[in-house]
Amino acid sequence: MTENRLGRVAGKVALITGAARGQGRSHALNLAREGADIIALDVCDTVEPAMQYPMATLADLDETAALVKDLGRRVVTGVVDVRDRTQLFRAVRDAVSELGGLHVVVANAGIVAADKSVPPHTFLSTVSVNYTGVANTIEASFEHLGAGASVIATGSMAAMMSTYPTDNPGFPGIAGYSHSKRGVARLVRDLAVQFAPLGIRVNAVHPGNTETDMLLNDGMFRQFRKELEAPTRAEAEEVYGPMHLLPITSMQPQDISNTVLFLASEESRCITGMQMHVNAGATLPTTKSGAPD
Ligand SMILES: NC(=O)c1ccc[n+]([C@@H]2O[C@H](COP(=O)([O-])OP(=O)(O)OC[C@H]3O[C@@H](n4cnc5c(N)ncnc54)[C@H](O)[C@@H]3O)[C@@H](O)[C@H]2O)c1
Repeated sequence: MTENRLGRVAGKVALITGAARGQGRSHALNLAREGADIIALDVCDTVEPAMQYPMATLADLDETAALVKDLGRRVVTGVVDVRDRTQLFRAVRDAVSELGGLHVVVANAGIVAADKSVPPHTFLSTVSVNYTGVANTIEASFEHLGAGASVIATGSMAAMMSTYPTDNPGFPGIAGYSHSKRGVARLVRDLAVQFAPLGIRVNAVHPGNTETDMLLNDGMFRQFRKELEAPTRAEAEEVYGPMHLLPITSMQPQDISNTVLFLASEESRCITGMQMHVNAGATLPTTKSGAPD
């Protein structure tokens, strides 16, 4: 007997930034599988100053779109830098007019420059993408949202670690990353208060170490094993695996997508302003010692 059920986000349109690959693609496919049409945005280009790993390509974004179509859903793609407000507002407006509405926003695009060699202003470039880019995405979407809409911003467990190297002067990319993700956590908390009377929910999802290009590159391996010249993935895992209290070495993108789907759906209709930690318990020790919500 074939199951004939409506998906958990059937009839909704979901916008996702950083949708060409990694967690963004996973969110797009998971939401499409559950009935949403998709607006998939990504920069598909180098982000200056260059990261120690390449950004997604146009071919990646096209592949996300093809996979969404294979699931029987509509998709509109846009090559957009979340720092470029003109480009972003236009892309959102055009896509919403094509798909007929907007109900879910997943502000997911992000970067991290893990190398010690990056210039000091990398701190600010990182904040531009990871914090200002999230705020831009929500602002560009706002005019299209109505009661029942759900906004989800991607933070990081770095936002919750009070001793994370914000004060490490040698790593401006890592410090900017931590700063920007703390900002996202606070933005979500405060914006939820403002949007609540409109019936619009705003939540953050804070992933732990997740198997995407952002984590799985040599620069990040060196960040975890600074004492080694050219650490391997296995040597990096020896450090980042035990950060998680549960016996889980790393999250899969699908682990984060499961929470995004819950926050996008009506199942979470009473939940707003929350910091959803999807990190296998990594931040429980810091939270106990009084880190931000
Ligand atoms: N992978 C992890 O371990 C981890 C942990 C915690 C949080 N996060 C966060 O998860 C989110 C998704 O990252 P991921 O793990 O999928 O990595 P990823 O590098 O695979 O994906 C990031 C995507 O964002 C896009 N992007 C980068 N800058 C952009 C810009 N200016 N405008 C538009 N698109 C841009 C990239 O092209 C890429 O497709 C990020 O916000 C990241 O900070 C990741």
